[in-house]
Amino acid sequence: MIINWDTKLYCLIGNPVNGSLSPIIHNYINKMDNINSRYMTFNVQNNSLSDVIKGFLALGLKGFNITSPYKETIIPYLDEIVGDSEKIGAINTVKNENGKLIGINTDGAGFIKMFYDNNISLKDKKILILGAGGAAKGICYSLIREELSQLVIINRTKDKATKLARQLKKINTKLNIQSKQLEDIKNRKEFDVLINTTTVGMKPNNKKSPITLEGFKESLVVCDIIYKPLETQLLREAKMKGFEYYNGIPMLINQAILAQEFWLDKRLSDNVSVETIKYINEYLKED
Ligand code: ATR
Repeated sequence: MIINWDTKLYCLIGNPVNGSLSPIIHNYINKMDNINSRYMTFNVQNNSLSDVIKGFLALGLKGFNITSPYKETIIPYLDEIVGDSEKIGAINTVKNENGKLIGINTDGAGFIKMFYDNNISLKDKKILILGAGGAAKGICYSLIREELSQLVIINRTKDKATKLARQLKKINTKLNIQSKQLEDIKNRKEFDVLINTTTVGMKPNNKKSPITLEGFKESLVVCDIIYKPLETQLLREAKMKGFEYYNGIPMLINQAILAQEFWLDKRLSDNVSVETIKYINEYLKED
């Protein structure tokens, strides 16, 4: 695809942004779905966020993504925030609608999309989630919109899990939401889905796992949002035990697809998700 007068520029701002997969993912999506856009990364210094936003508005950039450390500090620059994103306290996507900046967090919805794409129903399911950090928060806010029967949050720092559970209960008063310590879980068999959002098992600590899979039922679905390595120790154990399992690539791709759909205000083709997941898994295998 050639770059012409109508080509739109989108980007990621953060510090650091080196090593980010976002340009590879977004430009692959652009190519696949014939979108006349290009995606770049910008390493933004701490004191220049305000100038960067002014520049984007002056140039009429249609949208951008935000990563660490600006996911929270971007909020005062926004004119509007969609859904629960403000409660999550982190924005990863901004759209410029005629000079009005609208923010959204697509991480949680990106994670949930993985279940829909794989025909896994969350209705009446019991979910065990490990971690109560930024990623867990985004995922939990989306999870409680599904018709679960229970959500149990476990975190090394107990207070963070308790606080998150309390916040979530304010939004979904009917759902059984609990915070626990790992040793308090007596009957592992009752859980249908296990989600690791902690950083345990991430490169270079590839041999570490946040939990063993002893005692869970055969139909357990295991999700690890880590994608470096592609197969964590937790997922290796899941594979060995014959559980259905997913790494962090679907969530990573889906949050990008949802960002593009938000920017373009239209649905992308159905095969974009599967094809991009395949492409990035291959890309990282060679890494
Ligand atoms: P992210 O944005 O990726 O979620 P984060 O907000 O720093 O990153 O959260 C990291 C999560 O991994 C937290 O739940 C953290 O637990 P604490 O709240 O107790 O810090 C969890 N985590 C990190 N290292 C851990 C370890 N060695 N054992 C258990 N949990 C760990």
